[in-house]
Amino acid sequence: MTEKKLAIDGGPKAVEQLGPFPTKIGKSELLEVLDLWEMSEGTKKQIVSLIEKETDLKGPHLFRYYNPRPSKVAAAEKAMREMVGVKHCLATNSCTSALVASYRALGIGAGDEVIVPAYTFFATSATVAAANAIPVIVEVDDTLCLDPEAVEKAITPRTKAIVPVHMRGAPAQMDALLDVANRHGIPIIEDAAQAGGGSFRGKRLGSLGTMGCFSFDYYKVIVSGEGGFITTNDKRLYTRAQNWHDCAACWRPDRFAEEQEGEELFCGENYRMSELEGAVALAQIRRTEEILTGHRRAKKRIKAGIEPIEGMRFRRVTDEAGDTGICLVFFLKDAEQTKKALPAIQAEGVPAGGIYDKKVRDWHVFNYWQHILEKKSVASDNLPWSGVAKENLPKYSTDMCPRTLGLLSRAIMVDVDTNLSDADCDAVAEGINKVLKTLGSARKPTTVVPKKGHADTEYQAETDVVKNRKKK
Ligand SMILES: Cc1ncc(COP(=O)(O)O)c(C=O)c1O
Repeated sequence: MTEKKLAIDGGPKAVEQLGPFPTKIGKSELLEVLDLWEMSEGTKKQIVSLIEKETDLKGPHLFRYYNPRPSKVAAAEKAMREMVGVKHCLATNSCTSALVASYRALGIGAGDEVIVPAYTFFATSATVAAANAIPVIVEVDDTLCLDPEAVEKAITPRTKAIVPVHMRGAPAQMDALLDVANRHGIPIIEDAAQAGGGSFRGKRLGSLGTMGCFSFDYYKVIVSGEGGFITTNDKRLYTRAQNWHDCAACWRPDRFAEEQEGEELFCGENYRMSELEGAVALAQIRRTEEILTGHRRAKKRIKAGIEPIEGMRFRRVTDEAGDTGICLVFFLKDAEQTKKALPAIQAEGVPAGGIYDKKVRDWHVFNYWQHILEKKSVASDNLPWSGVAKENLPKYSTDMCPRTLGLLSRAIMVDVDTNLSDADCDAVAEGINKVLKTLGSARKPTTVVPKKGHADTEYQAETDVVKNRKKK
């Protein structure tokens, strides 16, 4: 038998071509995805028969990197970058991971402190501990966001970040918070998980601080089921967050390149967004204005239809135009009145809830953050509470933020759907009014003189009333 010339020496290749093979993900996977959408049997049958007849179906490449087709995740990052108005944007698989990656990008670790509000979803605070740092829990005020004065008092030489949360879709007091942060040279990470698309004085949330973190989990303003984004104008922080989020498989797509500016090579985790979520996120980002317009219109109409009673106040909103409008919060005279009003309002069919009830466990209120208050750890090393942090640990207790608990126990939160019709809004306001009338007399109108720095005229009027009372 004559020996064949080796391919390496110019002979014929033993393997000219393998395949063709069908793509890894094909018809059955597409049908499962379609099944997520509820549609009429007729439509479904037509789509299924069309797909089954298709002879040249090429499945998707669901990994965001090395995708032969344009990546949906990359397109969603671009759309988010443009919408928020920042230079860099990184998609992640959640806001929880976006927060950890941001803390890590800033170099936050053992012994460092991060200031978080006493009213936020637990993840804001838990991620600080997950990054081996110490959460310092601070009071919110009647904006239901961080109180800038309380923040300033909580700053120590170990404070490495301040995390305002734009809670329930409304912007925190970013002017005052940035003033405090800048005077102390501390970066702000905006937790905009609940406020996608919102803004403060014309600037989108997530563009005011050093970094911004968003959640696209199903219950948020703009959603992809699961998902998150980090926004920043700082290239170094972007690169570090990207490396952390991609198992430190650095600098993709040029993953074996040398470190560019230093401090970019470290061990990370995997927080990558898949192309499935990227596609949904992209469509939702493009619909942001339409979604927000619906929420804002409905919220305005419900608020205008409510007839406040004595002792009642709406939540102070720092910038009505920038509020996403996903809910309307008001405070009643006291916790007792709120407890009485809430079931009656719910019985009217109004989609309302309380925020704090001593007997109901809720991950949004600090005194239920048992894992933090009791300084629990996943391992026997007792991190983050051991080592260098040990000497300066905060004293946590269930009553350490009494103002927050007081406000939350008086609050009623009305969900505002983007699709509510005017008639729906009027019915919601009517349901609330019916109950309020049984609880107290109509609030007397106040002459309001808006003052600089207070966008919410009602709050200003209330403040003046309190000040005048004190003078007397
Ligand atoms: C304020 C806040 N931060 C962070 C998160 C965590 O977001 P995700 O579920 O995307 O991890 C949430 C989610 O509810 C949140 O409300």
